[in-house]
Amino acid sequence: MIALLSPMGLTAQNVPTAATPPMGWNSWNHFAEKVTDADVRSAADALVASGMRDAGYVYVNIDDTWEGKRDAQGVIHTNEKFPDMKALADYVHSKGLKLGIYSSPGPKTCAGYEGSYGHEAQDAQTYAEWGIDYLKYDQCSFGDIIRQETGDDLDKAAAMQKAAYEKMHVAIAKTGRPMVYSFCQYGLYSVWAWGPEKGGNLWRTTDDINDHWDRMSLIGFQQAGLEKFAGPGHWNDPDMLEVGNGGMNNTEYELHMSLWAMLSAPLLAGNDLSKMTPETKAILMNRDVIALDQDALGHQGRRVWEEGPKEIWEKDLSRGHKAIAFFNRGESTLDFDPNLKVLADFRGKHLLDLWTKKEVAIDGSTKLRVPKHGVLLLEQR
Ligand code: GLA
Repeated sequence: MIALLSPMGLTAQNVPTAATPPMGWNSWNHFAEKVTDADVRSAADALVASGMRDAGYVYVNIDDTWEGKRDAQGVIHTNEKFPDMKALADYVHSKGLKLGIYSSPGPKTCAGYEGSYGHEAQDAQTYAEWGIDYLKYDQCSFGDIIRQETGDDLDKAAAMQKAAYEKMHVAIAKTGRPMVYSFCQYGLYSVWAWGPEKGGNLWRTTDDINDHWDRMSLIGFQQAGLEKFAGPGHWNDPDMLEVGNGGMNNTEYELHMSLWAMLSAPLLAGNDLSKMTPETKAILMNRDVIALDQDALGHQGRRVWEEGPKEIWEKDLSRGHKAIAFFNRGESTLDFDPNLKVLADFRGKHLLDLWTKKEVAIDGSTKLRVPKHGVLLLEQR
């Protein structure tokens, strides 16, 4: 039964929301506070035209700066950049896509717009009426409220934060409209340990990514150790993709995409989809890498070996298969020794290089060569 359904964001009985890591696009990394209704429509059009929707990228997520003022009844309205959210949702839905929105448990969002503090139930209801399918809930000014009310008491602070995230979960549930619920509080208070019980489908594990090798690789490789907290319906979120934004080269973007897939991370493209190079499209739409991310088992990959700038990660896949990734974080081409103990399980197996599509043998004599800031990503077939 499950196999007949699309794996993304399912809400059918017995299938959790976000059964596999959510895939789609988010406005922040490229458009930031400039995003408009027209940009979002153009992203939706491009998801369809490029083939990304059919590859699994179905969420079109508006980040911060859509918010306007509240009316006398406290109902939130959009600002002039988003003249009609319901019409936008209808448009996005007509393309076979889903619409995501953004708010904060604090009175102000990170960009200083209206947050949901004191209006949680009302806002959830408004989102449901608009036809929203996904909410990113960003701590922002709620951090100040926590500090004011709890001082140095970390336990009290954690409890306050949990309650705020749960409050919006309850509010969403009461609307009866399924929404993927994304926590964004930068990994504070070990969110991975309590995210699922407070209704989170995904939670950011770090502060913001940016379009530079140092930041992307730091965040990505820092995920080691969090693997036991991820699984169907609840995912660690190392932040949105920067692929195609221009601050890294394509080798680095391939590593970015590979690492996020090994991590079973949400794949939310963060680039301008209306202006993609063939290389950007090829990276975002590598079906084998997407399948690795979306594997139904939902086992986040783990680091099994490291030496200086060299790291080997493994991921268990359904059907008893495994993927293995050789990462080079160094500043020159590096070879991995094919006789390493951790490679024992992979010797004599059919291994496909998910980027070149060539078969690779780990045979004890051929060195495994990986370029600077690159990856050799292999899957057992
Ligand atoms: C925070 C979040 C970002 C983005 C901005 C918007 O920094 O971590 O992902 O949503 O706020 O203001």
